Amino acid sequence: MGSVAVVPMLFADSCRSIAVTDAASAFPISVDKHLNKHAFGWCCRSSNNTNAGETISSTTVAGKLTATSSSNSYPKYDRLLPCPTHKSPPRIEHLVVSEGGPVLEYICKVLDLPHLFVADLIQFGAVYFALVSPEPPSTATAEQIRIFKEVTKPLVLQERDSIKGKTLREAQKTFRVTDVNQVVEPGTYLRVHVHPKRFPRCYEIDWRSRIIAVEESYVVLDKPAGTSVGETIGNIEESCVTFATRALGLTTPLMTTHQIDNCTEGCVVLARNKEYCSIFHCKIREKKVKKIYLALAASPLPIGIIKHYMRPINVAPRLLSEDFIKGWHICQLEVMECRKIPWPTIVVQDEYCIEDCGWPFQDYAYECKINLLTGRTHQIRAQFAACKAPIIGDSMYMAATIAEMINPGLNPFGKYKKDFDCESEKETAMINWIAQHGKEPSVAIGLQACQISWDDDEHFYRAGSPWWRC
Ligand SMILES: *[C@@H]1O[C@H](CO)[C@@H](O)[C@H](O)[C@H]1NC(C)=O
Ligand SMILES: *[C@@H]1O[C@H](CO)[C@@H](O)[C@H](O)[C@H]1NC(C)=O
Repeated sequence: MGSVAVVPMLFADSCRSIAVTDAASAFPISVDKHLNKHAFGWCCRSSNNTNAGETISSTTVAGKLTATSSSNSYPKYDRLLPCPTHKSPPRIEHLVVSEGGPVLEYICKVLDLPHLFVADLIQFGAVYFALVSPEPPSTATAEQIRIFKEVTKPLVLQERDSIKGKTLREAQKTFRVTDVNQVVEPGTYLRVHVHPKRFPRCYEIDWRSRIIAVEESYVVLDKPAGTSVGETIGNIEESCVTFATRALGLTTPLMTTHQIDNCTEGCVVLARNKEYCSIFHCKIREKKVKKIYLALAASPLPIGIIKHYMRPINVAPRLLSEDFIKGWHICQLEVMECRKIPWPTIVVQDEYCIEDCGWPFQDYAYECKINLLTGRTHQIRAQFAACKAPIIGDSMYMAATIAEMINPGLNPFGKYKKDFDCESEKETAMINWIAQHGKEPSVAIGLQACQISWDDDEHFYRAGSPWWRC
């Protein structure tokens, strides 16, 4: 195996490194460290907030420069299907190709993985390439940086015909590998998501029964909780789009037009062609799409409009301020109704993998009907939490609400916020406040997109009963 010993493995450490790698990428990638750190969760009912993922995520092969060993701590690799019910720690390998040849062969050899497994990874969309390695992240070791410098020397790059006429930036753009026989040349960068994030829920759903409508240019789906609307990084297979397309036997894949959170269920419009995709985007922008939600909150909320300002940073948790802050985005929703109902039973919670986030009063819950006036990521979850009525099962935001109730003033943008002498003090308070939030829920929370309509109700769709009424 002499040849393998020269294979440099670049920054093969953590999912964190993708934040840098993917700055130049063509794919929608979460650079949300907080989410990523916890994103591989698949567990039913954790009765407290301990985070099993945390310890596993430190499993890395950092600094490993040769890949001759199979005696590591990784599980035995077989096939990607059937979907495992247990989760694996994330494992992302960054490689620079040292010998040309078919991509499948190369990865099998260097990572010591079986052919069928790597073929599955490619089919899942878990393998990416770039002609030239992207900059290593700040966490890279000196050795990893040395390798990067070695393969990106101007003299080395000049020798490569494949990048003639391209800027370095263009050559560093990552693309998905779609063909096992694709030939990679020496110097090519490969990123292999050996343990892509999985969605076992996809295999438990009767997808045909979740289709609300099939029209000429779109389909309306009653999305189950614990699934992703569209593809995720390293996994184009296990999404609503793929499973709905298959359930309907469509030859053209459905397309995402708008997002709802993985842990949220309910109405999602999927386009049957590109044209309708842009038409629907315009309708959303022009506020012609009306969205009604049902939220199962831990406390009651008064009827009326709730307004907050959201920090304009694209990471979870989303932070809200009650007062106007320049540059922060306005969030508005209208609570139309709020009904007191029994807190879901343990049996129902277990069935839908609802996390018990430690709310002190679990006799009654409050089902609120919401008219969403602005549609920002995590908006309802964050606004309800800010009003001390977090959504049941919302491990991320409920944890922070509980912390603020015990210790008013923890939230530097809340009602009991303290005055800060200097920016750095405020910064520290904000970091501490972010740390009060928990991980993203693994399956479901008490939130349903119960109705969607557009063009003055000309198109009008309702989801089935939310999980808590089943
Ligand atoms: C909750 O976490 C503690 C450790 O923090 C552990 O001892 C306890 O067994 C856990 N409880 C359950 C029900 O998992
Ligand atoms: C759903 O989960 C995947 C994997 O963790 C993540 O990449 C994606 O951003 C999530 N989607 C939404 C809409 O939250």
